Amino acid sequence: MDAKYKKADSIAEFIDAIRIRVEVFIKEHGSEAGWEPDEKDKDATHFIAIVKGNIVSTARLLETAKQEFKIERMATLKGYRKKGVTRGLVGFVVKEAVKKKPKRIWMQAQVQAKGFYEKCGFKAVSMAYDLYGIQHLDMEYRFR
Ligand SMILES: CC(C)(COP(=O)(O)OP(=O)(O)OC[C@H]1O[C@@H](n2cnc3c(N)ncnc32)[C@H](O)[C@@H]1OP(=O)(O)O)[C@@H](O)C(=O)NCCC(=O)NCCS
Repeated sequence: MDAKYKKADSIAEFIDAIRIRVEVFIKEHGSEAGWEPDEKDKDATHFIAIVKGNIVSTARLLETAKQEFKIERMATLKGYRKKGVTRGLVGFVVKEAVKKKPKRIWMQAQVQAKGFYEKCGFKAVSMAYDLYGIQHLDMEYRFR
């Protein structure tokens, strides 16, 4: 599916990104209401995928230590999954992170999404652990 990838650079785009996170993490996954947005959003760079003028997928990038970048809050609206749009967005976020000459690009991935992130070039670097009642593991981007 054709999608355009970009940084969210207006309040309107940021609000639409948060709407997707509320839809996916709070309504679909059952996380606590009030969890989205959070304090870290003001320090993060937000990314979006646009299909036919609609924002359908989002993720944010945070510098967690000097030259270390973490991808968080990856979420795609249900009707736009399994179409390659999400992989495209992860690829775009990684490309933008690489411009910052990172030592590490990493994430805390839900275990159910491990195979997806492997297809995006990440590898698992920890055992599974509980985070907010959901099994997660740490994954790192494999630089070529
Ligand atoms: C997990 C998620 C991000 C995947 O998005 P998606 O739009 O289905 O992914 P894509 O269509 O870009 O898939 C790219 C490839 O990964 C595969 N894939 C997708 N989800 C997968 C999963 N959960 N496990 C293994 N492989 C997966 C696809 O089959 C596809 O493979 P192919 O190119 O060989 O056909 C999406 O299901 C989602 O937003 N889920 C809810 C929120 C969530 O779980 N976020 C992750 C938190 S860490």
